[in-house]
Amino acid sequence: MLRTLAISNYRSLRELVVGLGQLNVITGPNGSGKSNLYRALRLLSQTATGRAGASLANEGGLDSVLWAGPENHSREMKDGTQPIAATMRRNPIALKLGFAADDFSYSIEFGLTTTESASGGETHFTKDPEIKRECIWHGPRYRRGAVLLDRKRNLVLRMDESDDVVVTADLAPYESLLSRIADPIRAPEALIVRDAIQSWRFYDHFRTDARAPARQMQVGTRTPVLDHDGHDLAAALQTIIEDGDRAALRNAIADAFPGGRIEVHSDRGRFWVEFQQHGLLRPLDQSELSDGTLRFLLWVAALLTPRPPSMMVLNEPETSLHPDLLPALARLILKASEKTQMWVVSHASQLTEALAESPECTSIVLAKELGATCVSGQGLLTKPTWDWPPRN
Ligand SMILES: Nc1ncnc2c1ncn2[C@@H]1O[C@H](COP(=O)(O)OP(=O)(O)OP(=O)(O)O)[C@@H](O)[C@H]1O
Ligand SMILES: [Mg+2]
Repeated sequence: MLRTLAISNYRSLRELVVGLGQLNVITGPNGSGKSNLYRALRLLSQTATGRAGASLANEGGLDSVLWAGPENHSREMKDGTQPIAATMRRNPIALKLGFAADDFSYSIEFGLTTTESASGGETHFTKDPEIKRECIWHGPRYRRGAVLLDRKRNLVLRMDESDDVVVTADLAPYESLLSRIADPIRAPEALIVRDAIQSWRFYDHFRTDARAPARQMQVGTRTPVLDHDGHDLAAALQTIIEDGDRAALRNAIADAFPGGRIEVHSDRGRFWVEFQQHGLLRPLDQSELSDGTLRFLLWVAALLTPRPPSMMVLNEPETSLHPDLLPALARLILKASEKTQMWVVSHASQLTEALAESPECTSIVLAKELGATCVSGQGLLTKPTWDWPPRN
C-alpha cells in the first residue's frame, strides 16, 4: 500500500506531497489539479512498462508538462506587491515522481534531454526526457543508508553493506530501471516494485456513445480484468459469474436497479449482456441501454474484478450517473477498497460524502495557491515528510 505520494514540477503540481490511506477521495474546484494528479499517477505507472518517455512526448515533451511558474515565489510576489516573474534558478530543471510504500519506496527524476546523440551527432529525439536519477529504498523516508538500488544516469548500483555492486552500466537515458532490470538475484526489489506498479488499474470516462466498444457484441475469453475501454464488458461480467463473487454482482445490480437483473449470453464465441428491467416485457441488450445504465454495469465489472490489483484509480466515476445511483456506486467502491487501495477523483458530493462515511476514507481536498496545487488544510505539521534523492 502506498503511504505517501510526492510529485514535483508536473503541471500545476509544483511540490505536492500527500499522505494516503486505503481509500482516497480527491475533490476540489475546477482547475485545482485533480486531473493533473490522475495523470501524474498514470505517468508513474507507465515508467514500470517503459512508456513514460513516450507518454511525456505525447503530452508535448517535458518542457510543456513542467510547472510553468517560477521556481519559487518571493514574499513580495506572495503578498501581491510584485508581479509574478522568473526567479534565479537554484536547482536543475526536473520533473520528479515518487512514493513511499509499506515495503519499498521509489522515485524517478526526469530532466531535459542532451542535444547530442550517443553517436555524436545532433539528436532528433528532442521531446524524449532523460532519466537523471532513480532510486528504490527501504522504509518511508529517503536516506542514503536505506537505498537498495541507485541509478545515476546510465549506472545502476546495488548498495550492499560490504560493497556497492554494479547491476548495469549501460542503461539508456530514456529507459527506466524498472522497465529494464529483470535480475531476481541482484535486483529483486526492482521486480517487486515493477510488478506492483504494473498491476495498478486506471479507469477514466468509459465511452457510451452508439459506436462505443462497450455497446458492441465482442468475442469473449475469460476476463478477470475489464479493459479500460470496456469492450470486454460481457466477458468480464461472465467471468465474475463463473469465477468471482456472483452474489455481490447480483446484489450490486439489485441495489442500483430494484427488480433488475443481468444475464450474459454467447453464441459461437461472441458475448453480449442482457439487462432485464422491472416493467419491461423483454430484456435490453448493451446496445439499447441508457448511457448511465451501461456505465454502471461497467463500474460493476471493473470493481468486482476477481483479480483485485494493488491499486485502482477512478477518474470522475459519477459521469452521466443519476444522483440516485451514486450511493450504490459508493457501496461498490467501498467493497473494492477492502482488497485494493482505491483513488477516486470526483466532483459529485453525493458520492464523496457517502465514501467519507467510511473510517478508511482519506479525503484530499485540492486547492490552488499562486497557480500551484496544494492540499487544503495541510500545514507544516500535517504534511508527510518527504525528501528527494539529490541529483548527484
Ligand atoms: N505546465 C503547467 N504549469 C502550471 N499549471 C498548469 C500547467 N499545465 C496545466 N496547468 C494548470 O492546471 C490546471 C488544470 O488542472 P486539472 O485539469 O487537473 O484541473 P481539475 O481539478 O481536473 O479541474 P476540473 O474539475 O475542471 O476537471 C489548470 O488551471 C492549468 O492552468
Ligand atoms: Mg479534471
